[in-house]
Amino acid sequence: MDWTNMFQFRAPARIVFGPDSSEKVGEIARELGSKAPLVMTDPSLHRIGVTAGVEKSLREAGLRVEVFAEVMTEPTLTSVESAVAFFRERGCDLIVAIGGGSSIDSAKAVSLLLGNEGKLSEYQQRRVGAEWRAERKVQRRGAEIIAIPTTAGTGSEVTSGCGVFDPATGIKGWAGDPLLRPSVAVCDPVLTLSMPPRVTADTGMDALSQSIECYLNGGFKPFADALALTAIEVIAQNLPRAFANGNDLAARSAMLGAATMAGVAFSNGGLIHVHTYAEVLGDLTHLPHGRLIGLMLPHVLEWSRIGCVEKLATLARALGEKVDGLSAADAAERALGAVRRLAADLEIDEPLRSHRVSEETLRVAAERVYSQHAARSATSPRGFRSVDEVLEVLQKAY
Ligand SMILES: [Fe+2]
Repeated sequence: MDWTNMFQFRAPARIVFGPDSSEKVGEIARELGSKAPLVMTDPSLHRIGVTAGVEKSLREAGLRVEVFAEVMTEPTLTSVESAVAFFRERGCDLIVAIGGGSSIDSAKAVSLLLGNEGKLSEYQQRRVGAEWRAERKVQRRGAEIIAIPTTAGTGSEVTSGCGVFDPATGIKGWAGDPLLRPSVAVCDPVLTLSMPPRVTADTGMDALSQSIECYLNGGFKPFADALALTAIEVIAQNLPRAFANGNDLAARSAMLGAATMAGVAFSNGGLIHVHTYAEVLGDLTHLPHGRLIGLMLPHVLEWSRIGCVEKLATLARALGEKVDGLSAADAAERALGAVRRLAADLEIDEPLRSHRVSEETLRVAAERVYSQHAARSATSPRGFRSVDEVLEVLQKAY
C-alpha cells in the first residue's frame, strides 16, 4: 500500500446502532428540530406492525406524526410524487424512512423533489460517452432523513443514491448527491427479525457482493477496503446463520452492521460489473435485485479472476478459507469456491433460465450491459471488449 497516493473518503452521517435503538427515534427527530415527521414505509411493513415502535417513539417525544405507507417495492416516479404531495399537504418537516432499499430510496427522491425544481428524471443520470451525467444537479436538501433499515442488504441508509423506476422507459434511473444522504441511520437489528429467509438470503448476497465488488474495484481507497474486508468476513460467518434461523439476534445484528459497513465502503469505492448485470436484468425481468446479484456474482468473479488473483487470495482469507502455504492462484480458487458454496447454501444457484428468461432477453441484456460498461470497465479488474464477452458471462449463468 502506497500512502503517498491521493484519495477521498466521505464519512457517513451519524449511525446509531443496536437492538432497540429505534426507540430513540423520537429523541433524534427532536434533536434535528422536527415537529411533524413523516414516516415513509411500505404497506406490508406497516400492516405487520414493524413501524409501530417508531411511531410510538415519535409521538412520545411530543411530535405530530404523519404516515405514508404506500411505498412500492419498486418505487416509481408517480409513487414518489404522491409522497411529495402528502408531505406538503400535511406540513411535515422531516422524513423517517423505514424499510428496505425501496423506502429509503423513495425518501431520498422525495427530499430531492422537495428542495429542487423540475422533474426527478432530470436528476437521473444518463450515459454520455464513457461518463454518467444528469441534466440538473441537486442544489438543496428538501428534508432531512432518518433512515431505519429493516433489511441487511442495500446499505441505502448510508449512501447518497436512489433508484426510481420509470414505467414509461422501463428503466430504473439513478440520482445521487451527498445532499441526499440520510442525516442519521438508525440500525436496529430487532426490526430485521421480520425478514423471511428468502429476503434474508437475497439482500445478504447484495451486501456481500457490494463489499466484494468494492474491494476488487481499482484505485487507492484504503478506508473503503478496510470496511469492505471486515464486512465480507462478518457476512461469511453470519449470513448462513441468519438464513437458517431468522430469530438469531446475534447473527441478525452482525449482518446489519456488515451491510451498513458495505454501504459506506461501496459508496466510496465503487462497484464492478456484478451490479451492471443485476441492474440491467432487474429492468428486464423484475426479479429481486439481491437475487440477480447472487446469480451473477460467481460468474463475474470467475471472469475477473485473471485480473485480480492477489486480491482474490486476500478475499479467500476474509471468507474464512484456510490458505496458508497456498499459492495466490490456489487461494484465489478457494475464494471462488467459497462464494459458490455460500450461494448454494442460500439456495441462490438456480440457472437464470429457470426464471423464464428467454434467450432473446439475454441478448438484449448483453447489449444494454455493453452500452454502459465503459465507466465501470475502466476500474474493474477485467472489463469487456465486446458484446460477445458480456454475453459469454451471461450464458454461464443461464
Ligand atoms: Fe446492490
